[in-house]
Amino acid sequence: MTDRPARAEISFRFRGRDVSLKGFPPDRMLLDWLREEAGARGTKEGCAEGDCGACTVVLCRERGRWASYEPVNACILMLGQIDGAELLTVEDLAQGENLHPVQQALVDFHGSQCGFCTPGVVMSLFAHYHDFGDAASRESVNAALAGNLCRCTGYRPIVEAALSVIDGRPSDRFDEDEPQRVAALQALPSGDLFVGDQTSFFAAPATEGSLVALYEAHPDAVLLGGATDVGLWVTKRLQRLRKIIWLGRIAAFNMNLSDGDGVRLGAGSSLQAALGHLASIHSDLLVIMSRFGSWQVRVSGTVGGNIANGSPIGDLAPALIALESRVELRKGGVSREMPLEAFFLGYGKQDRRSSEYVRSLYVPRPRPHQAYRAYKVSKRFDEDISAVMGAFRLDLDGRRVTAARVAYGGMAATPKRAAACEAALIGASLDDPATWEAAKAAIAADFTPLSDMRASAAYRLTVAAQLVTRALTEISGAAVPTRLGELRAAE
Ligand SMILES: Cc1cc2nc3c(=O)[nH]c(=O)nc-3n(C[C@H](O)[C@H](O)[C@H](O)COP(=O)(O)OP(=O)(O)OC[C@H]3O[C@@H](n4cnc5c(N)ncnc54)[C@H](O)[C@@H]3O)c2cc1C
Ligand code: FES
Ligand code: FES
Repeated sequence: MTDRPARAEISFRFRGRDVSLKGFPPDRMLLDWLREEAGARGTKEGCAEGDCGACTVVLCRERGRWASYEPVNACILMLGQIDGAELLTVEDLAQGENLHPVQQALVDFHGSQCGFCTPGVVMSLFAHYHDFGDAASRESVNAALAGNLCRCTGYRPIVEAALSVIDGRPSDRFDEDEPQRVAALQALPSGDLFVGDQTSFFAAPATEGSLVALYEAHPDAVLLGGATDVGLWVTKRLQRLRKIIWLGRIAAFNMNLSDGDGVRLGAGSSLQAALGHLASIHSDLLVIMSRFGSWQVRVSGTVGGNIANGSPIGDLAPALIALESRVELRKGGVSREMPLEAFFLGYGKQDRRSSEYVRSLYVPRPRPHQAYRAYKVSKRFDEDISAVMGAFRLDLDGRRVTAARVAYGGMAATPKRAAACEAALIGASLDDPATWEAAKAAIAADFTPLSDMRASAAYRLTVAAQLVTRALTEISGAAVPTRLGELRAAE
């Protein structure tokens, strides 16, 4: 920590006032605080694991002169993570008897069937009202609602209500108050945060120097990115977390930088903020990132968390390993970098030393002679974890493959390159599918996948081999429909 004494209370805006809190358990969830202490019971608990959206609230954060309105799942967000933000819940939208336009539209279109999902739906649509500009389409509304489950499947009136009010929307009182809102957020205390004592704390360093010092002193602390994994340790595994270091207040840590050669993603960047940078590398990364969890998960979850969790079914790792990405780790102010695939040592085991953390990822752009494809295969299109994820980068000399990087998720205990498949691809001709067969057959030598609730081992092997065909078919330029939209159009 710096010489300045750390703040001992979190500070945020709520119901038009500045609020300071201390003395809460480090792993206190925002939803529990809202319902049990703040008496804000409009926000509901459904699944308690970030899947249903019943608990959606909006965090308004200051972004220079503007405010951003981000929907988050309060069930898996730690209370300390609202430091520096304004917390808006469903109770905040109406003014007296006057409903917010989004609420009124839901009434007018009979979009509210039960009291359980509606508050979360209202908050996601309110965030859409403010954060996607003033245009709305069926696609943008569907994307905004992908993390809100309506158990009675009454989506049609909900979507129609949203379209009626958001597309070409009038300004609301939140637009009118925005300058004051931003000024109030800027006036909140900032600097290092440390709530608790040496045995139990929620801390949020404001600089990387403070992070290094704190993590060296407490290597047993849990680093917290967006809590979209860690939150479930508390709500589902019922773990108690005594020491938490949240990375969300270190501005430099969230930065993403793009140039002609590649993109450097800060570990603290939210997945939503990384989306545009990754999309600039390849359109398949836009598709994958748009299907990553839900809007709520993407605005909270971070790039660093998705890599550091070491999950064999995380989406970023295989997609980025195929691009020859590198991960930067830092400990005690000293960085080291390694190929991303080398970071994953085994199930639940990464090449990370005590008090070392993931600092950034470097993702090179494919060169003109390289072709790239990445595919996520899951049971549901939205808000689902991959059963198999396959990514391919092929070096081409004319129509012949001269080198290949192929990586899969969901096929082994870690995200992993398919060495035998890569070797078999060398020399393959884009014009001769018979030359692809050895690479497809090699998948069985590369992987012995498991059967689990997402897919059987046999399904995984079949799909992984078929993805080789799909990648080569697309790269060859053959006029064969391979994408969902094209397949539907061809029907
Ligand atoms: C409903 C739902 C849907 C999801 N859908 C997807 C999906 O489609 N695809 C997918 O891949 N994942 C998905 N996830 C999983 C999760 O959202 C991602 O893995 C996310 O990127 C985790 O990031 P986080 O910042 O929230 O991590 P956290 O939960 O904050 O942390 C995860 C782990 O990483 C560690 N950590 C965090 N940051 C660092 C750092 N900088 N250095 C070292 N260690 C660090 C933490 O200590 C912890 O061990 C989903 C989760 C939920 C709840
Ligand atoms: S209660 Fe289901 S997402 Fe939070
Ligand atoms: S609105 Fe609640 S189940 Fe559909």
